[in-house]
Amino acid sequence: MILLGLNIDHCATVRQARYREAGSTCGGPIEPDPVTLALLAEQAGADGITVHLREDRRHIQERDVWRLRESISTRLNLEMACTPAMIEFALKLKPESVCVVPENRAEVSTEGGLDVVGNSDRVRECVEAMKAAGIITSLFIDPDPMQIETSSELGAPWIELHTGSYANAFHGAGRKAEYKRLCLGASLGHQCGLTVNAGHGINYVNISEVRTIPHLHELNIGHSIISRALFTGIGEAVREMHQRMNPAGPRAASSGSGSA
Ligand code: PXP
Repeated sequence: MILLGLNIDHCATVRQARYREAGSTCGGPIEPDPVTLALLAEQAGADGITVHLREDRRHIQERDVWRLRESISTRLNLEMACTPAMIEFALKLKPESVCVVPENRAEVSTEGGLDVVGNSDRVRECVEAMKAAGIITSLFIDPDPMQIETSSELGAPWIELHTGSYANAFHGAGRKAEYKRLCLGASLGHQCGLTVNAGHGINYVNISEVRTIPHLHELNIGHSIISRALFTGIGEAVREMHQRMNPAGPRAASSGSGSA
């Protein structure tokens, strides 16, 4: 079964659009609360909750992350830049996993994969610090053989393949090539002993192909699920995505032929 990590950043984006200056993150008129959303999503079957605590704090705030740490019952995945301040924060927070992403103040969302080849010393330091604290490190990278092999050499147990280029090419001529790149990247990651996740730009339409990428452990999905939840509620949005990720159902998906 492919697991669903729900990224709830955009719930906080809506709150910050109105209550940035409120001095609090929840309570009274301050809404929507990403922590409440996370708890409802867990009830509907989300396998983990992902948040990106950005340097500019444009959506998720530190208090959201601490409240999640205290209240969710699945797994907390903290997306973060590879900086000393974020490493220190993660070591205090102790999420189940961190996903190291590149961060650029001008971008609308995370736009490219982390260059682990060009930043190998910093990334190695981060991976080692997390390992010593019992935290899994995932590296958010493009499906590029050099980036995948270097991730393995640096000791990261997990990678998250960036599906953004594939999602952008989905309705155009480049789709097949991007899909192939992801499949080859996932196979190489698996051969290198890495757990392979994927994320960015995955939606209710492209999931039917994304789910066929080999060796997928977990998909981290945010925007499409939060958007759909405006119309259906978060429970239905999570259930529908989970079903599209695993159309044969959890039992059949995990037993291969489903003939037990
Ligand atoms: N994975 C990573 C590492 C991301 O940075 C993001 C975007 O915040 C996502 C997954 C989710 O992307 P989307 O919101 O497009 O589903």
